[in-house]
Amino acid sequence: MAEAIQSLTNQRFRELLKSLSGISLPEGKVAMIEQRLRRRVVLARLPNTETYLQELMQGKLGQEEIKVVLDLLTTNTTSFFREAEHFDFLTDVALKEFLDRTANDRRKFKVWSAASSEGAEAFTAAMVLNEAAIRRKFEWAILGTDISRRMVQRANQAIYEAEQIKLIPRNLSSKYFMRGTAPEVATKVRVVPELRRRVKFRHMNLMDPTYPLDRDINVIFLRNVLIYFDADDKSAVVRRMQDHLAPGGYLITGHAESMVVRSEGLEHVQPTIFKKAL
Ligand SMILES: C[S@@+](CC[C@H](N)C(=O)[O-])C[C@H]1O[C@@H](n2cnc3c(N)ncnc32)[C@H](O)[C@@H]1O
Repeated sequence: MAEAIQSLTNQRFRELLKSLSGISLPEGKVAMIEQRLRRRVVLARLPNTETYLQELMQGKLGQEEIKVVLDLLTTNTTSFFREAEHFDFLTDVALKEFLDRTANDRRKFKVWSAASSEGAEAFTAAMVLNEAAIRRKFEWAILGTDISRRMVQRANQAIYEAEQIKLIPRNLSSKYFMRGTAPEVATKVRVVPELRRRVKFRHMNLMDPTYPLDRDINVIFLRNVLIYFDADDKSAVVRRMQDHLAPGGYLITGHAESMVVRSEGLEHVQPTIFKKAL
């Protein structure tokens, strides 16, 4: 009987998580939920995860607690230069085509990191664009968005462990990251203001029916997030993304995800990369 109640609560909780974030948590992930929420159960002074989930779903723990849970249950794994060939594509193809097309009207090159986590993807793009702008002058801006408010806050701070930038080519890491000098920040690095000025992060849920964003974005990174959504949500997100791409703009997905992108206005130009018609 107790087990039946537990599995019902888990089922309802997975529905709640899906309706809030689109994340389809496989049934087998119950142990992961328990582990990640253990501290919240203690802080709420409740006897077990089951009671905690029930009170959460009845709204007894408040809206703020739901935000905390979303933060805890999202997977935020990321790294600088992850799937590095995408950043070559960004400058060698997407940017080059844009500059050739807009040589006379000085438009800004816009990039959106659509599930930006703590910002490594957006700042990788920022480094390569800034380098490209030294060779051929142009304006650029990057927006990162994520459902996790904790990640958005961290990305805006742009502070990382020195360990995280080890795999960045040395000429870039020494130029774009400042080292902490005080003993308490000796293991940390921070992105230089020159890049931080052009890279902003804000909270946004990809499940929202509309996105309050520009509709002339040149490159959208939508990497390693579709995997968490079910088939209908994946298609709906891709459709909405398409509306925000400039003609000739590119949508870049993660390697595990490109098979799910099937949309009339998007041409599959390379594994993981899609182009909106001009
Ligand atoms: C695995 S990380 C990927 C980060 C980065 N794009 C990369 O490839 O390295 C997935 C991110 O998607 C975010 N996410 C999950 N569901 C989301 C949603 N419905 N709306 C916006 N972001 C979401 C998570 O918070 C997490 O930071």
